[in-house]
Amino acid sequence: MALEFLRWIFRLLMVLIISQTVCVMIYYTSNTHSSRNAMTETLQQLHCAKLRREFSVINPAKSLDIKSVTQKISDFLNCPYKPNTTEQDINRIKLQFCCNATGSFILTKRNTAVSQTIEYETSSASTYKINAELHSMLPEDFPWSGRRLRRCAVVGSGGILKNSSCGREIDSADFVIRFNLAHVNDSDVGLKTDLVTINPTQIKKEYKDLVKNPDPFVERVSVYGNASLIIPAFAYTFCTSLSVKALKVLQPIRPQQPVVFYSPYYLRKLDRFWKGRGIREVRLSSGFIMISTAMELCENVHVYGFWPFDSDLQERPVPYHYYDLNRPHPYMHKMPEEFVRLLQLHSQGALTLHLQPCSSQTRTQDCV
Ligand SMILES: *[C@@H]1O[C@H](CO)[C@@H](O)[C@H](O)[C@H]1NC(C)=O
Ligand SMILES: *[C@@H]1O[C@H](CO)[C@@H](O)[C@H](O)[C@H]1NC(C)=O
Ligand SMILES: *[C@@H]1O[C@H](CO)[C@@H](O)[C@H](O)[C@H]1NC(C)=O
Ligand SMILES: *[C@@H]1O[C@H](CO)[C@@H](O)[C@H](O)[C@H]1NC(C)=O
Ligand SMILES: *[C@@H]1O[C@H](CO)[C@@H](O)[C@H](O)[C@H]1NC(C)=O
Repeated sequence: MALEFLRWIFRLLMVLIISQTVCVMIYYTSNTHSSRNAMTETLQQLHCAKLRREFSVINPAKSLDIKSVTQKISDFLNCPYKPNTTEQDINRIKLQFCCNATGSFILTKRNTAVSQTIEYETSSASTYKINAELHSMLPEDFPWSGRRLRRCAVVGSGGILKNSSCGREIDSADFVIRFNLAHVNDSDVGLKTDLVTINPTQIKKEYKDLVKNPDPFVERVSVYGNASLIIPAFAYTFCTSLSVKALKVLQPIRPQQPVVFYSPYYLRKLDRFWKGRGIREVRLSSGFIMISTAMELCENVHVYGFWPFDSDLQERPVPYHYYDLNRPHPYMHKMPEEFVRLLQLHSQGALTLHLQPCSSQTRTQDCV
């Protein structure tokens, strides 16, 4: 009986000792685990801070060897990101002071007079006199000043948008800008469009018979619902008749879908603004123009599909455009230089650059 009791006590002691040991082991392993986690996190934060500093002073004039920085850009875009409202305000005020998109982004009845002589953007020696008929077809005033544009999405045509699943995120913006009548797609690029650019060369190449047979053009633009169509009618002299033709054809058929012209004065001021800040190219791309305009008009600017390189962040090959095989004019634009400037603006918190597939987890929060 006494022996039985002793055995029982012994077993109880063993159980107690073993459970204690297990508890202590669990405590220690979990503790070193969490301290290791904390250490990784600190190292991660330091790495992110270093990358942010490096990219915020990057020199856009230096030609960028994208292969050598792909890993860094990828790491940087995985860092926690918050826009900097001070930086956003500074850029907005600078752009208002320089270029004033609200007053002069597009030609309106308010900022243009009948019989006014318009100078071309790229040559003040060439001029165009606005006649009464054309004047009557201009919008009354700047159309977007009444709305509060909290979140704007500027959607470039980069091949990285393929399979990106960014459509829903893009469509949730208050204002969506697209380029060159690019295709829309609910899954990758979204459907919502408020403003879409047309290149006069597109009209010339794809809609030769616009006046006699407007249907193909009307069908193409009606995909964008009531979005405004914007054309650089006064960039070069050859642009004007094509642009005026598009306006005259479309206005009676789709009055809810305005055709508007960039003011050449606005474009010239914006060009001078960026060239004074180190961008060297013949003419700013329409993407860079629109991002600048959005930085003035919108609280938060989200930039998608701007990636002018042949392989993506995982170093897989990507097409230049998501919808065709065209490449930009090598003489006109220096897309990689513009990209470096966008990367800089992102690292300063002035805008949010999206270069990876979208998912609900990685959705960045805006400052309200
Ligand atoms: C935000 O930008 C301002 C102006 O450049 C800068 O002084 C400030 O340190 C930035 N804030 C953060 C949190 O980085
Ligand atoms: C911009 O233009 C609008 C309309 O002409 C004008 O009311 C406003 O004062 C201008 N803003 C600046 C900063 O010049
Ligand atoms: C658009 O959608 C189709 C099918 O829904 C898909 O195959 C295609 O890759 C999508 N993306 C783009 C950018 O066109
Ligand atoms: C997109 O996904 C499809 C099917 O999953 C695949 O065949 C295609 O190669 C992908 N394209 C890109 C550019 O990743
Ligand atoms: C587009 O404009 C038409 C005519 O003004 C209007 O009936 C329609 O509701 C508008 N559509 C959208 C999506 O705003």
